[in-house]
Amino acid sequence: MKKILVTGAAGQIGSELAPALRERHGAENVIAAGHRTPLPNDVQKSGPSVTLDVTDHAEVMSAVGDLGIGTIYHMSSILSALAESNRQTAHAVNINGAYNVLEAAVAHGVEQVIIPSSIAAFGPDTPQDSTPNETIQRPNTLYGISKVFGEHLGNYYQEKLGLDVRGLRLPGIISWKTEPTAGTTDYAVAIFYGAIREQRYTCYLSSDTRLPMMYMPDCIKSIIDLAEADASSLKHHADFNVGAVSFTPSEIGAAVAARVQGFEMDYEIDLLRQAIADSWPNSLDDTAAREEWGWSPSYDLDSMTDDMLENLKIKLGDGG
Ligand code: SER
Repeated sequence: MKKILVTGAAGQIGSELAPALRERHGAENVIAAGHRTPLPNDVQKSGPSVTLDVTDHAEVMSAVGDLGIGTIYHMSSILSALAESNRQTAHAVNINGAYNVLEAAVAHGVEQVIIPSSIAAFGPDTPQDSTPNETIQRPNTLYGISKVFGEHLGNYYQEKLGLDVRGLRLPGIISWKTEPTAGTTDYAVAIFYGAIREQRYTCYLSSDTRLPMMYMPDCIKSIIDLAEADASSLKHHADFNVGAVSFTPSEIGAAVAARVQGFEMDYEIDLLRQAIADSWPNSLDDTAAREEWGWSPSYDLDSMTDDMLENLKIKLGDGG
């Protein structure tokens, strides 16, 4: 079997996707690639790994060729808030990185490339409620611009170069294993750390900021389901909306308060992240994903909150 390469395997999604793919395809067939951030222990120990700088064209070219790669899950990305303050790295990783991976895929006969996009691919002119799959995309963040670039580039390689490229616009992802710290939706993860450690959380977004969100098991399922979908049923390729849940800080705060005695939440607005969140959809219309590859999420706000608290308590060493 040709090998599967997961870039960004130290990141929030990559660190859970690589083990899930190893379960499915055999540990020895899934190569976890990281760069500056060390790979989590379990990812490093459970199968092969490489150090790979996705911004280095020659390095990506030779890795994909030398390792005998058949499928690439390109998860490396600089998230929204960090990208605004570090434009050079964001450009190098999000734009050059995507280009390098697609070029290497074509050069070495890779069969499939999965490149996730984001709700950030939309902007202030986009209809915010039940945002359609096809609509105005005029993002006003560097991260969003890089994600629109990735979508268009993916569709170009699919249509013009015959490469099987697939991608989905992920909402904010909530998970307990690897904590994200560079994005705008991270409050919905940080709130759980605050609740368990000190029964309180200060939120940097306003109480009524509604954003599309998704629990990690649904995120992993969406990526794998799309990768495995029958090509003949796909009309879209690198740009599927995927919805799951949609909530405000005050709604998730209430869900946490109902489960953590004495939990309190207050607000100190971060203007940068508030402006980014205000430019993103409130909820997504994911009919195309449902019709073309059977997308259907499993977790709602309550089941996600239960599962997050249970697992994070164990991780943070408070079994009860
Ligand atoms: N979670 C991402 C961010 O906040 C959105 O794709 O940047």
